[in-house]
Order: sequence, then structure tokens, then C-alpha cells
Amino acid sequence: MTEIRNRLYNDLSWLWPMWDTPSEYQQYCKTVTLLIDKYSDRELKTLLNVGCGGGKNAFNLKERFKVTGLDISRPMLNLASELNPECEFILEDMRDYDLDRKFDVVLIDDAVSYMTSEEDLFAVFERAHEHLTPDGIMLAGPDFTKESFVQNLTQTTHSVSPRGASDIDVIFVENNYDPVSSDTTYEALIIYIIRENGKLRIEKDMHILGLFSINTWRRLLMRVGFHFHEEIYYENGNEYTEFVCLKQAQ
Ligand SMILES: C[S@@+](CC[C@H](N)C(=O)[O-])C[C@H]1O[C@@H](n2cnc3c(N)ncnc32)[C@H](O)[C@@H]1O
Repeated sequence: MTEIRNRLYNDLSWLWPMWDTPSEYQQYCKTVTLLIDKYSDRELKTLLNVGCGGGKNAFNLKERFKVTGLDISRPMLNLASELNPECEFILEDMRDYDLDRKFDVVLIDDAVSYMTSEEDLFAVFERAHEHLTPDGIMLAGPDFTKESFVQNLTQTTHSVSPRGASDIDVIFVENNYDPVSSDTTYEALIIYIIRENGKLRIEKDMHILGLFSINTWRRLLMRVGFHFHEEIYYENGNEYTEFVCLKQAQ
């Protein structure tokens, strides 16, 4: 299994709980649940959350589903387990795993953004398809597509929290930049402005993320064999496409 090198998922993972609370994932999880109910006429009980990170989606879904989380980062899985001690979390690469069991729902988290080639994106859909029960549902959606990407979009989040005996004040600055528009990647640069009891520390973390056209998503999903619906989801004034993908019973 290849390692993930981003600092947010390694030495700086302790900052993850400060970047949005689990309740800020509630609206997305409600939408996911509504879409599952809209497109399934049987009761779906088990859910595999692929790229579950620190388990904030799992936190909002575990009341309704028996949630299993999968992620490539051990520090993130530790956070997910602390937040959701009743759920199972598995260390795997979303492109290459065989859990030897099937799930009614596979939710591909925003972690799918880390797929930077068509081959990798296809592998994620293919693994999900293999792990679904007949008539099961996969949900996945891009943060950005070639069509929706905004050059130099910069967002900041401010968070204050006690950590042991210290007061930690963090500003997360995230800047998206696509240096080469003809390829399938862009840069998400994160700057962490950390003040521990007032003492300043600045950390930098570059994430290389995938950027595909909406038609590439459609083509790859079809190639895997999914029958899918496209739903629009709105959050904070932004519009996202969520693909609700049905595995045909054979
Ligand atoms: C932004 S976090 C997801 C957070 C999540 N939405 C939550 O509820 O806390 C992105 C995650 O993608 C994971 N990731 C990136 N590449 C991966 C891969 N190839 N396989 C599995 N997980 C991966 C990272 O380890 C990280 O935990």
C-alpha cells in the first residue's frame, strides 16, 4: 500500500478535529440518506465509507447505518475511532482492497479528490462496485470538475480550542490553483497559522488533487457498469453534483 504524505493526514492530523465540527457534515449526510431512500426500495443497512478520514461523516450516518470506514491514513483512522468507538475502521487504499464482504451502500467521501488519473478514479469505482450487494448503491461526487473549477479560490476557516494545558488558535487558509489546465490535477495549498498560547507557528502543506470533466466521471461510471442518476446538492452557496449509482442485480 502506498503511503499518503500530506501533513494533514500525518504529523498535523491533530488539527483535523479543529477544521469543521462533525455537525457541519450533517447537512451532506442528510442529503446522502434522502438520496438513498429516493433510489432504493429495499432497506439498506450496511454502509462502507471509503476515504472516511477522521470519521465526521461516519458520526452523522451511524445512527441510520452500520458504518465501516476505510482510509489510507492510520492517524486519521485513530481520530475516526475516537469519534466513533462503535464503528469498525480499516486501513486500506481505496484503489486496491478486498474486504471479502459486501455492503448495501458504498459512500465515496470527498477523499476521491485524491485520485489524480482516470485509471485511479476507475479503480475506486470498480472496487466499490465489487463490494456492493446486488441492488446496492454507491454515492460519489467531485468537489470540482473542469467545468466548475475556480482558479485561485481561497477559503479561510478560524478555530479556537483548548489542547491539554494550551489554548490553540488556528487559521486554515486553502488556495486552489491549476498550473496546467490540460492535465488532470490541481494544487490545493494549505497554510496553517497556528498560535499556541499566543506563540506563532506557520506550517505549509501541498495537496495534489484530481480534476476531470463531468463527462469523464460519466464515462468511467458507465464503464464500471453502474446505472446512475445525477443529483444537485447545494452547500454554502455552492452547487455540487452527487452521482447516485445503482448496481444492477445480475
Ligand atoms: C478530507 S479527508 C476526509 C474527511 C472525511 N470527510 C471525514 O468525515 O472526516 C480526506 C481523506 O482521504 C484519505 N485518502 C486519500 N487518498 C486515499 C486513498 N488512496 N485511499 C484511502 N483513503 C485515501 C486521506 O487519508 C484522508 O483521510
